[in-house]
Amino acid sequence: MEITKKDFGSDFTWGVSQSAFQTEGSVFADGKSESIWDVFSAKKGAIKTGENALNCCEFYKDFKPDVLLSQHLGFKNFGHSLAWTRILPNGIGSVNTKGLDYYNRLIDFQLENNITPWLTIYHWDLPQILEDKGGWANREILNWFGEYTDVVTKAFGDRVKNWKVINEPSAFCGFGYMTGEHAPGKKSIFKYLAAAHHANLCQGIAGRIAQKNVKDGHVGTSFATFHIEPKNQNFFHREATERIDATINRMFIEPIVGLGYPYKEFPAMRMIEKYIKNDDEKLIQHDFDFVGIQYYCRLIGKFSLFPPVAFANEVPAKERNVPMNNMGFEIFPEGLYHVLKRYAAYPKIKKLLVTENGVCLDDLLGNEQVNDPIRIQFYKDYLAQLLRAKNEGVPIEGFFCWTLTDNFEWWEGFKARFGLVYVDHQTQKRTIKNSGLWFKTFLNS
Ligand code: BGC
Repeated sequence: MEITKKDFGSDFTWGVSQSAFQTEGSVFADGKSESIWDVFSAKKGAIKTGENALNCCEFYKDFKPDVLLSQHLGFKNFGHSLAWTRILPNGIGSVNTKGLDYYNRLIDFQLENNITPWLTIYHWDLPQILEDKGGWANREILNWFGEYTDVVTKAFGDRVKNWKVINEPSAFCGFGYMTGEHAPGKKSIFKYLAAAHHANLCQGIAGRIAQKNVKDGHVGTSFATFHIEPKNQNFFHREATERIDATINRMFIEPIVGLGYPYKEFPAMRMIEKYIKNDDEKLIQHDFDFVGIQYYCRLIGKFSLFPPVAFANEVPAKERNVPMNNMGFEIFPEGLYHVLKRYAAYPKIKKLLVTENGVCLDDLLGNEQVNDPIRIQFYKDYLAQLLRAKNEGVPIEGFFCWTLTDNFEWWEGFKARFGLVYVDHQTQKRTIKNSGLWFKTFLNS
């Protein structure tokens, strides 16, 4: 049976999500300083396609058309992240009023058009000046991030009630400090462990600051979540899969909800203890108003001699003859159901929202149209699994598409098109894809 908007209930939140670095461009405008992504993406070979994000979707130059597009499609909630470097160009200290003005204009325009703003405090674009002092691997980040959170929640909290503290700590710590595929391009297990622990602490710290500063606030944080299964029931593959699960899922949510790090399944994770201080357990724990689930795919785990320490790796989707997006992520709707059930079962979870979900395809523009039936089916299937969980009592109260417009997909450049709206990055012309039109009909039903 076809899903309808009504099935989700009248209070269900429908929105689109995007981030500052991936859409704004204007990386040197109005007193903004360089972020780690500005520096990293300018390095030869860092971005697979050799592209840069200097212009992106020009969301800094003019955000109005995209806000109006989201309204036109029927999305009443708009998630965007703040660029730390626009607001505090030195990372801490003096505030750049032009940066604040920009976000004030965006927020006011959204509200004037009956769009509810959702702000993410950190979506991976650390000021380079702070990275030069060690970035997330330096425990000082607790103070830096606390100060930044205090500034932005005080500046915008009168009008913005919905806050997401951090976007996917596992992703920026793992890719940024361990594998080096993302900014700042570091490859050190120790830096990674320090960064991960500090990111966990910052979630708790910033969660409390935001709840204090924002009257009637609705403050959450978000995790990259994976449904994960072993290659087969072989003991070594099962144990290896538990270690992957401990690293990419559990290590981030479990300390927040008071369960600590999952050492039992991955004893080598005890190396993180080097970075833990006396009161950290308490500092990390926090009762968020919501937890943001960002789900894209299933992973299949196996025992492997590489990488050492984990002795575990994934069996890539392309070796498994399964449907994939154009970045090689498996398309696996049922995983969303499992992930929602699993996260809802953690202690003290008040509510879940899917704060990101979507698919990148090789979209082609022809006759002013983009025909993307795979994306339409993708959303129908993932939403059906969300509904299945909801109907079984999971407190899942919203869904945000990733993303509104095709944007800069980190080290994949512009090739990975996730948008409901096609963007010609040369001319900046927007064309609503058929999936966008499908949502328009769905949301107006
Ligand atoms: C990130 C987005 C990214 C998306 C698709 C998420 O992990 O938060 O910034 O574009 O995945 O890869």
